[in-house]
Amino acid sequence: MKRRDFLKIATGSAGGAAAIGAAGARSSSTSAAVQEGEGNNTTSGNGTSGNATTDGGGSGEDEGLPGAGTTKTVTVAPNGQLVFDPETVYIQPGATVEWEWAAGGHNVVPESIPEEASWEGHEPLEDSGFTYSHTFDGPTGEYQYVCTPHAGAGMVGTVVVNESGQEPGGGGEAELDPHHMGVPFQAHFVGIATILMMIVSLVYAFFVLKYGESQNASAPNKE
Ligand code: CU
Repeated sequence: MKRRDFLKIATGSAGGAAAIGAAGARSSSTSAAVQEGEGNNTTSGNGTSGNATTDGGGSGEDEGLPGAGTTKTVTVAPNGQLVFDPETVYIQPGATVEWEWAAGGHNVVPESIPEEASWEGHEPLEDSGFTYSHTFDGPTGEYQYVCTPHAGAGMVGTVVVNESGQEPGGGGEAELDPHHMGVPFQAHFVGIATILMMIVSLVYAFFVLKYGESQNASAPNKE
């Protein structure tokens, strides 16, 4: 076989491989877009206006915030212990945290909250059975609070409002967002690249196996 013919065939195969690769890439990017859709509803806490901005993309729901409608519960002084349980709660913007008093004489008072955020907490000391809830639809960030009578005893808590509503890197439950790794690469890029490399390798292996041992291949200048 002549070198020119070989190149012709090789080019054709590569084209086919590229087409397959492109098809794979398209389906991959579709699922990537679906995942992106969830993430798009997140707030940007750095806005100058301080209002949570949403860029839609939702499935027709009026509340654009991803955490809207979800509630997480924090127990105040479980079994009389001077703690909030859990001490740190992770929620998405728009989610609600409900504090349930398990013992009397405690309150929930913000100590440090993000700039532009507003949260009054619940300062009156309440008895067992009382509940207080707040919807965090402001900027993302850490909302640190204390029980004022027992702050010195370590009765402190934090509400973390972030885009995933999960502890970052916690237990692998959180969906990993590649953008959080500091490198702006496309989700699924690695998968697409891997598929392309496999196809290229197969095509290469095919030609090496079929023509690699031939005399023509080892003497390219000989027509
Ligand atoms: Cu307390």
